[in-house]
Amino acid sequence: MSTNPSPIRAPQHVVDLLSRLHAASLEQEAAISSKKKLASQRDARCEFDKLMLDKFIALDEDKCHFVYQLITAMGATNVVEAGTSFGVSTIYLALATAQTKAATGKKGTVIATEKEPQKAAIAQGYWEECGVEEHIDLRVGDLLETLKNDVPEVDLLLLDIWSTLALPTLKTILPKLRRGGVILTDNTISGAEGYKDLLTFLRAPENGFQNTTLPYTNGFEMSIYLPKKQV
Ligand SMILES: C[S@@+](CC[C@H](N)C(=O)[O-])C[C@H]1O[C@@H](n2cnc3c(N)ncnc32)[C@H](O)[C@@H]1O
Repeated sequence: MSTNPSPIRAPQHVVDLLSRLHAASLEQEAAISSKKKLASQRDARCEFDKLMLDKFIALDEDKCHFVYQLITAMGATNVVEAGTSFGVSTIYLALATAQTKAATGKKGTVIATEKEPQKAAIAQGYWEECGVEEHIDLRVGDLLETLKNDVPEVDLLLLDIWSTLALPTLKTILPKLRRGGVILTDNTISGAEGYKDLLTFLRAPENGFQNTTLPYTNGFEMSIYLPKKQV
């Protein structure tokens, strides 16, 4: 029986580090019990933020592989990541955009966002280990502030953030999102209640998104921005 092939083109030490980081993230998540409990704790914001200070809560490995493939297929070079934590998913975004930039000569960057300075510092350490830091513009602080300015035309937005922040983040980026740009939102099945306002917005025909829920664990929403042309 063949195993699922990895699409990631990266030096072996980077592949090995990513495997270790995903394993550490899963181990932590198992220790803080089910993701369901995690989602409900998100409501008690302060307590939840404290609990999450030393947690990866990394995007699942298969979802990271999908994002990497999608960026490559789209030829995307400008990506925004809402919620960076220790920067695991960011490594995939940086690898994929760097490879596209090298192949096409296009410019671009991954804008990473994290409100906790200590988490951001750890993420930077991993990026240096992978040699991808030059492809990442890390913005430390509340993303609703740090994403207000200096955002180029965006190819892809990854929403891996507390659900209450998802719609405000999308609305901050929307004026910069290119036609055919993609929004990916994590856990839209398990977190459907928290994402109600976001999903209502994405699915309202007048807002111009074409949506599908990808069948990854807990759901992974893919929304393509196809606004009607102004006449
Ligand atoms: C689910 S984690 C991101 C995981 C990351 N994408 C990965 O795969 O490794 C969400 C992160 O968003 C951060 N966060 C929460 N509120 C934020 C805000 N207002 N601005 C920036 N970051 C925030 C949290 O501190 C947390 O580390």
